[in-house]
Amino acid sequence: MSQTTKDEILKRRTFAIISHPDAGKTTITEKVLLLGQAIQSAGTVKGRGSNQHAKSDWMEMEKERGISVTTSVMQFPFNNCLVNLLDTPGHEDFSEDTYRTLTAVDSCLMVIDSAKGVEDRTKKLMEVTRLRDTPIVTFMNKLDRDIIDPLELLDDVENELNIHCVPITWPIGCGKEFRGVYHFSEKRIYLYESGRGNKLHEVQYIDGIDNPKLKELLDEQQISDLKEELELVQGATNEFDREDFLAGKITPVFFGTALGNFGVDQMLMGLTSWAPAPQGRATLNRFVGNDEEKLTGFVFKIQANMDPKHRDRIAFMRLVSGKYQKGMKLYNPRIEKKLTISDAVTFMAGERERADFAYAGDIIGLHNHGTIQIGDTFTEGENLKFSGIPNFAPELFKRIRLKDPLKQKQLLKGLIQLSEEGAVQLFRPLQNNDLIVGAVGVLQFDVVVARLKSEYKVSAIYEAINITTARWVECNDKKELENFKRKNQNNLALDGAENLTYIAPSMVNLNLVKDRFPSIILKSTREH
Ligand code: G4P
Repeated sequence: MSQTTKDEILKRRTFAIISHPDAGKTTITEKVLLLGQAIQSAGTVKGRGSNQHAKSDWMEMEKERGISVTTSVMQFPFNNCLVNLLDTPGHEDFSEDTYRTLTAVDSCLMVIDSAKGVEDRTKKLMEVTRLRDTPIVTFMNKLDRDIIDPLELLDDVENELNIHCVPITWPIGCGKEFRGVYHFSEKRIYLYESGRGNKLHEVQYIDGIDNPKLKELLDEQQISDLKEELELVQGATNEFDREDFLAGKITPVFFGTALGNFGVDQMLMGLTSWAPAPQGRATLNRFVGNDEEKLTGFVFKIQANMDPKHRDRIAFMRLVSGKYQKGMKLYNPRIEKKLTISDAVTFMAGERERADFAYAGDIIGLHNHGTIQIGDTFTEGENLKFSGIPNFAPELFKRIRLKDPLKQKQLLKGLIQLSEEGAVQLFRPLQNNDLIVGAVGVLQFDVVVARLKSEYKVSAIYEAINITTARWVECNDKKELENFKRKNQNNLALDGAENLTYIAPSMVNLNLVKDRFPSIILKSTREH
C-alpha cells in the first residue's frame, strides 16, 4: 500500500453520536460542523426561528415532529484528521436503523443532558456499543442550566452504563453561575461567555489554577473551593489511559453547553486525538484488516429519495479496507456480479458530492437500482461476507391498502423500496394478495404512509390484522421444508427480499409450530 493511502486511512475518524432525545444531539452536531468549518454559522442546521433544518434531516415528517428519522453522513477536516460523522435517528422506533449505523463506526460520542443524567435511550444504545466495545467519549451538556452535581453525574454513568469515567475537564459552576471548565492535563481554565452560540470564536483562557487573573473571575472563597474540588475529583478518578479507552473500559468526560457553543471544541480535540483510526471487521470467512490493499466494505443503510432532485436510492457503504477510485469495478459476492462504480457520492457535510477517491473508514453512497441490499459486502473479487448486521423481527403488523386501487403497482414498488432501506418490513402472504407492513415501532407506520404519499404519489391506509410476530424460516433438509410449507401455507409469506417467513397469529401458535417441526429453524433476527 502506498504511503499516501496509509496516511489517508490513519487520519480518518468515523463516529456517531448517541443520546436520549432532547439531550442535544442536533445542537452538538451543528457545533461540530461549525468547528469543522463545514457550515459557517450555526442555526443553519436546525433553524430555530428560521425555516432551515438540520442538513441531516431530510423529511417533512421530521420537521413536523422534530425527530430525526434518517441517517446521514457528514465529512469534514479537524485537528489533522478527516472526520466522518454518521447521524443516527434519535427516536426509539428507529432503533434498527441506529443499530446498523453503529456497526459502521469506530467510536461514539455520548451526549448526556446534565440536568437529567443517564436516560433510557442512552442505556439501550450503550448496550449496542458494548457488543463491540466501541470506544466512547462523553459530553455532559447543558451546563448553562442547573445540573445534577457533576460527581453524581459520573457515578450515574458508571453505575448505569458500566464504564469508568475519566473527567478531562471539570465545570466551574453551572446555570447562571457557569464560568467555564478546568482542563486537567492542560492545567488551563477555559472561560465561558454567553451569547457566542452561533459562530466560531476565540475562547479566552487562564493558565494555571494559581494564576492571579483568576481573582477577576472568582472571589477568594470560590477559588479555594474550586481547588479543593479539583483535588477531590483527581483523587477519586483515574488518569486517562488510551489503551483502556480503546478497549471500551473508560470514557473521557467533557463538560459544556452545545447551545452556548462551549466545550465542544475541547471534546472534538480529545475525540480526534484519541479515537481509533478505521478498524478492521470480521467476515464469515476471515478478519479483514484496515491495512489491506484491496477494497472491501459493507452496506449498512439504504435510503430512497434522499434528495427530491435525484429520484434514486443510495446504498451507504462503509469501506473497511483499501481505496475506492472512481470507475473501479466492485464485486458483490451475494449476487456474484461485478458492478462498475462511476458515480459514487460522498457526503461532505450533507451535500452530495462526487467522490473520486475514498479510503477505509469512509462512507460512500452507491446508486442503487434494486440490486443492492442492506448487509451486502463489496470486494475487488474475493468471496467475503461481513457479519453482524442484523434485521430484527417486527412486532407490529398492519395490512396496507390503497385508497385508489389503480395504483397497486406504484404501492408495491414503494413498499419494496422502503423495505430495502430497512425502514419497515414488507410481507406478502403466499396465499393471497395482501400487503402486510411489519414494524419495530409504531411511528414507522406513519412514516411509511407519509413517504408513500410524497415520494410515490399513492394514498394508502392501514387495516388491523391478526399477526403477533414473524420468523424467518430456514431448513437444511429440502424435504422437511417442502412438508412444512405444504402444511403451513396459510401462515407463510415472503419478505421484501423474497425470504420465506412464518407469520404467527399468536405466540402459542408459534410455539406449537416449533414443537411440531423441530427441524425447521424459525429465526427472530436475520443477518443480512
Ligand atoms: P436532540 O437532537 O438530542 O433531540 O436535541 P436538540 O439538539 O434538538 O436539543 C434539544 C433541546 O435542547 C433544544 O431546545 C436545544 O436548544 C436544547 N439544548 C441543546 N443544547 C443545550 C444546551 O447546552 N443548553 C441549553 N440550555 N439547551 C440546550 P428546543 O428544541 O429549541 O426547545 P426549547 O428548549 O427551545 O423549547
